[in-house]
Parts: sequence; structure tokens; C-alpha cells
Amino acid sequence: MPNIELLLTDFEDVDNIMTWVNDPEVTAYFATMGNITRTRDQEIAYLSTMLASKNDRLLSIFIDDEYAGQCSINQIHWPAFTGRFFMVLTKEFQGRGLAPKVIFQLLKVALEDMGLNKIWLIVREDNEKGRHLYKKCGFETEGVLREEYKIDDEFINMVRMAILAKEYRRWYKR
Ligand SMILES: CC(C)(COP(=O)(O)OP(=O)(O)OC[C@H]1O[C@@H](n2cnc3c(N)ncnc32)[C@H](O)[C@@H]1OP(=O)(O)O)[C@@H](O)C(=O)NCCC(=O)NCCS
Repeated sequence: MPNIELLLTDFEDVDNIMTWVNDPEVTAYFATMGNITRTRDQEIAYLSTMLASKNDRLLSIFIDDEYAGQCSINQIHWPAFTGRFFMVLTKEFQGRGLAPKVIFQLLKVALEDMGLNKIWLIVREDNEKGRHLYKKCGFETEGVLREEYKIDDEFINMVRMAILAKEYRRWYKR
């Protein structure tokens, strides 16, 4: 059983992040990052904003002490205790059935440690793997955001999914 750790992201993670952030195979389903190349300086600037934010919690994923990707809770809206889910695994760690374990740990941080009540995400409607995975991990579909983005001259539907703290407790028997 691999040892999965989610550690608070720091500037030291920038070189790890640079290993995947410009890889179109990894970012293909990112609705807003499609063709954008990010320099190391831009990534540092992004991290500066995110690490200073009270409404974003960035975590770096380590599996058996090896860097395996990023996950985060963003756009935290403290009045309603909601936050937006994000996750990426490096190519080396994809396809090994590790994603549900990382998702569980991130939900644990968000819904137990941080005390949030609802974690939501939006996933491209054509991202069958993502939608399968999130359903398998207890997220419910809340609706379709029709033609929410335009990528390469194509309008893209996004599916919004979410899990509530009470559903998480039932799903994960906690
Ligand atoms: C999304 C991501 C985290 C999933 O990690 P992963 O290691 O590939 O996922 P896993 O192997 O743990 O699980 C994938 C599940 O999807 C299923 N799956 C794979 N391809 C599928 C497809 N085309 N359609 C439906 N299900 C699919 C697998 O069978 C598995 O389900 P199962 O355990 O029930 O058999 C990873 O692919 C990633 O980082 N992608 C790039 C970033 C990204 O797109 N993030 C999501 C943006 S919303």
C-alpha cells in the first residue's frame, strides 16, 4: 500500500510543478490552461498569490516520498464553508488507481481539518475519466454549465459536481 502524503505547497515545489504544468498531455482537460505556456517566473508569481491567500489551500502530493502532483481547495467561501476542488497527478503516477486515495485525503483535509461543508468542482463534460472518478469518490452532479468555455473555437460544456460534509461522512463511514 503506497504511502500518500499531502504537504502544504511551498516555493520549493516550483520545480516539481514545472515538470507537468506545460505538458499538454497532463493539462489537456484543464478548461482554462489549454494552450498557455507558463514560465517558471510566472509560476512563482502564481504561487505567491496563492500561498498568501486565505481562500486557497495548496497541497503537494508525495507518494512513497516521491513528488506525484498537486491538489488544492480554491475559491474558499468562508461564509458558506465551500471550496473548489482541484487535482493533478504527474504522468508517472496516473493510471495506477491512486487518484481515489488522494481524493479521500484531500476531502479529509477540507471537510474534517478545515471544517468546510461543501467541496465542488467543474469538469469538462467530455472528460469521461474525471466524471467517473469523481462519482466513484462520492461527488454528485449538480448541473451542466452550458458552453462555459471556448477552447480552440469550440464551446465547452462543464459539469458541476459536489460533495457535502454529511455525504462524505456517509460515503467514507467517518
Ligand atoms: C484525473 C486524474 C487525477 C486521475 O488519476 P488517474 O491515476 O489517472 O486515475 P485512476 O487510475 O486512479 O482512476 C481512474 C478511473 O477512471 C477510469 N477510467 C479511465 N479512463 C476512463 C474513461 N475514458 N472513461 C471512463 N472511465 C475511465 C478507470 O478505470 C478508473 O476507474 P476504476 O478505478 O473504477 O476502474 C489524472 O488522470 C490527472 O491528473 N489528469 C490530468 C489532470 C486533470 O485532468 N485533472 C482533472 C481536471 S477536472
